[in-house]
Amino acid sequence: MNVASAIQQRRAVRHFDPDHKMTKKETAKLLSLALHSPTAFNIQNWRFVVVEDMELRKKIKAASWDQDQVTDASLLIILCADLKAWKKEPLRYWRSAAQPVQEFIVPAIENYYEGIDQVQRDEAMRSCGIAAQTLMLAAQSMGYDSCPMDGFDFEKVGELIHLPDDHAICMFVTIGKAIGDPEPPKDKLPMEEVIITDTF
Ligand SMILES: Cc1cc2nc3c(=O)[nH]c(=O)nc-3n(C[C@H](O)[C@H](O)[C@H](O)COP(=O)(O)O)c2cc1C
Repeated sequence: MNVASAIQQRRAVRHFDPDHKMTKKETAKLLSLALHSPTAFNIQNWRFVVVEDMELRKKIKAASWDQDQVTDASLLIILCADLKAWKKEPLRYWRSAAQPVQEFIVPAIENYYEGIDQVQRDEAMRSCGIAAQTLMLAAQSMGYDSCPMDGFDFEKVGELIHLPDDHAICMFVTIGKAIGDPEPPKDKLPMEEVIITDTF
């Protein structure tokens, strides 16, 4: 499947086959594709919590307006971000770069994020949002369906997964085999309303 088809065919799916299991190989392929997503300064601040424990999934479902996708999808991935990834040995993000590049980039990373919580959080959400779309399109290309989700109690889910203090949850992506009639395409706004040339 080419990228344009994956983009056009993806729908937010609400009904997954609860009996379908993805193989470990498929899951590994999907996650490894997600790791190709870009991040600013290559800090790779996303963390993918893959929830395998069905008892935990049931508790998460209860904190997610009882949405069936949480337990019925083959994969529940909680996209989290390490808000402090920028200062955790940043040299490792540029390990194989030439020394002058390393000497430039490491202080640049620190200058960009140091002391500005809003920038750290915005960046985390950007990284995870892009990774979420990569996951969904990769899933589509592998014959799977997906649903992006933020209809849940962030604090409660954070407690359930023991989210570290310096991390934030961005969203869920659920992935599996859709059942039932395919979701019809959603209404989209006209291009004239959402594409702006040069200035507002
Ligand atoms: C950040 C985000 C959060 C969402 N949260 C939920 C959710 O909690 N439950 C749900 O059923 N759909 C959720 N959706 C799916 C949207 O309702 C859906 O993407 C939108 O209606 C457009 O439909 P489409 O994805 O099929 O084109 C979410 C989508 C996004 C991008």
